Amino acid sequence: MQATLHSLFANLWQDYITITPSAHKIHDLLGMHGDIVNDHIALRTFNLEKVNLDKIAAHFTALGYEEKGQYNFEQKKLRAKHFEHPEAGNPKVFISELLVEEFSETLQNIVHSMVEKIDPAAVSSNSFVYSGTHWEISSKEYDILLAESEYAAWMSAWGFRANHFTVSSNHLDSLSQLTSINGKLKEAGFKLNTSGGEIKGGEEVFLAQSSTMADEVKVRFSDIEKVIPSCFYEFAQRYPMPNGKLYQGFVAASADKIFESTNAKKLDAL
Ligand code: NI
Repeated sequence: MQATLHSLFANLWQDYITITPSAHKIHDLLGMHGDIVNDHIALRTFNLEKVNLDKIAAHFTALGYEEKGQYNFEQKKLRAKHFEHPEAGNPKVFISELLVEEFSETLQNIVHSMVEKIDPAAVSSNSFVYSGTHWEISSKEYDILLAESEYAAWMSAWGFRANHFTVSSNHLDSLSQLTSINGKLKEAGFKLNTSGGEIKGGEEVFLAQSSTMADEVKVRFSDIEKVIPSCFYEFAQRYPMPNGKLYQGFVAASADKIFESTNAKKLDAL
């Protein structure tokens, strides 16, 4: 891996584990069964000119990544693309953006006021993708966003950073089946996302995915401190296509359920 890419992913990982304490434990637990290879990371943003999907993607395309797939999530009002690096061994990058104009004026106003606070010069630096929030938000505003879009609320609290890393089960010698990984995680007391079943997709769509529920972390809002969902860990098993090559894309129906891993309302229900 090129040095710049290596340090970019290392910085994304360092930032991610600071707000996802379970990730480190899971990394160690699964690491006893083989090398931990990262299948992909996921990044979130808003479709506003200053910070849209293409602006985030530019940091990766400048380092050799190429756009490979597009996805729509109508109900969640999201659009996404995934990027691959021609050199094997580099994780895929999945970037989604919230279609802000499809929401209420109230939500739009809050999101616009957040994005206005970002220094435009900061966006062009690689470190922007793990720069977190650039604004202050109250817990009331967070709740207003949450009522309309879990994704908008997550962004308001956490900003720009990896939403999840993903362990490739194909690279875990003695734990290559997703069902075995899930078993190990549950045995160790981790909560899995059961939206749409523990395993989303499967051999028939060439990709099976599962994930933990996001950690719950205390956040300092402008008014109070509150415990909310942060990030989660994902697990992916890829299957060979008729041409014998492992499928490298994503499955929108599965990703739709994976998004539920940071849903505060779902966490309350558990
Ligand atoms: Ni993912």
